Amino acid sequence: MTIQLDGEMPVRDLVGRYPQTRPVFERHGIDYCCGGGKRLAEVAREHGLTLPALVDALNEALDAPAGKAEAAEKNWYTASLTALVQHIVEVHHGYLKTVLPRLRALLPVVLQAHQAEHGVVLRQVQDLFNALDSELSSHLMKEEQVLFPFIVASEAHRQKAAPQPSGPCGSVRYPIRQMEHEHDSAGQALARLREVTGGYALPADACPSFRAAYEELQRLEADLHQHIHLENNILFPRAIALEG
Ligand SMILES: [Fe+2]
Ligand SMILES: [Fe+2]
Repeated sequence: MTIQLDGEMPVRDLVGRYPQTRPVFERHGIDYCCGGGKRLAEVAREHGLTLPALVDALNEALDAPAGKAEAAEKNWYTASLTALVQHIVEVHHGYLKTVLPRLRALLPVVLQAHQAEHGVVLRQVQDLFNALDSELSSHLMKEEQVLFPFIVASEAHRQKAAPQPSGPCGSVRYPIRQMEHEHDSAGQALARLREVTGGYALPADACPSFRAAYEELQRLEADLHQHIHLENNILFPRAIALEG
């Protein structure tokens, strides 16, 4: 696939149009969902990469044949907002509702078993996770009970299938701004988790539970990046445009 990549290209646009580039950003711990559309040159600099090396890795991903998951991925820029909301709730909220309780149970066990040698790191992991966990739980509720039903009802109204819904606080922009603020906070927590764990580097004496906790946290990071990307970069701008 021939795309002219340059340092000025916003990361969120690249990931949105070409999901096969996502693993490249994940591999380098680059958050592509928050931060208002950072450009390739900027994220390369921030992560100690040269721009040509990042562009080469992206070109390689773009040239590789699309995997099954990518080939099946819908174009969320053109799908209905109702379908996108449904996808986010089923796939990403559904995942969080199973993984958060799992980590809630697992992390204290790992801390207890390894506090003598790795207590400093694991206590920070536990504290960061606890804050992220409680923030996310209320965040999902606000999206599912207030913002998403409003977006779905607004789209139905636009298609003349339903009466105009009464807006949350007058305009959809206000709850969206609050959700974006909470996304930034979650993105910062994920970045801190990566930092304090040295990029999820396992110590030589890590037991299977320690390994499972780090693997689960990394999966959580990847899923949350994709989840927030769909909301910040596709759903929210389209909902604002719908309101006009
Ligand atoms: Fe969400
Ligand atoms: Fe969200």
